[in-house]
Amino acid sequence: MFHHAAGGYGSQGTLCGSLGACSAIINLVARDKEKTHNKIIKDLINWYASYNHPTDEFDSIVKFPKQKRVIPGSPLCHVSVSTWTMANETEIATYERKDRCAKVAGKVAMQTVMMLNAYADGKFKPVAPAVSAETAACLECHGPEGDHNQQGQMACGLCHPHKADHAD
Ligand code: HEC
Ligand code: HEC
Repeated sequence: MFHHAAGGYGSQGTLCGSLGACSAIINLVARDKEKTHNKIIKDLINWYASYNHPTDEFDSIVKFPKQKRVIPGSPLCHVSVSTWTMANETEIATYERKDRCAKVAGKVAMQTVMMLNAYADGKFKPVAPAVSAETAACLECHGPEGDHNQQGQMACGLCHPHKADHAD
């Protein structure tokens, strides 16, 4: 059902496929009047962006243990995979990189199960850090409390690096 999600959907590098697949499952399990599914998905995505990928928890069963870890700062496959590939001096079409993404997918599935178990016990609470002070400042003007002309909470500076002082 989620084969197409690999490589950020059809190898297009958009959303990390493991986030898309797990979001579909969260939607099935936790959709309620309070829209808890969206709260969990939001937290899973923010957690992913702040996590130092890949985990070493599966090192006893993988071909490439002890890989160099990178915090992507973004839920996008493109950013996550490219920063990791450069840091590890490798290429996308290697078993090494596939191993890394398999670990990422496994860890995202683990995190999803932990969140859904907490939800089932009525104890779900967000775990991801809040947005950075820089992004919070952008959101004051561009987010729901301001002009609301942009969607989401991704780190603005990754793509708009020259916008830090345009409001001064
Ligand atoms: C004090 C309010 C304010 C803050 C803070 C702010 N913006 Fe803006 N931003 C505006 C307004 C108003 C415009 C439209 C007018 C203009 O271009 O200055 C705009 C326009 C933009 C545009 C499109 C126009 C352009 O200049 O290219 C981008 C992209 C943008 N902001 C990104 C950001 C980012 C990223 C941050 C945080 C680093 C940020 N903004 C912080 C008010 C703000
Ligand atoms: C993954 C990259 C990326 C991220 C992260 C991102 N943006 Fe953008 N954003 C773009 C691109 C690409 C455009 C369209 C091209 C342009 O105008 O810069 C755009 C357009 C905009 C525009 C309209 C600009 C215009 O001239 O029409 C605003 C405002 C804006 N972004 C604000 C933000 C804010 C605020 C954040 C953080 C909460 C953010 N963006 C995060 C890539 C990104």
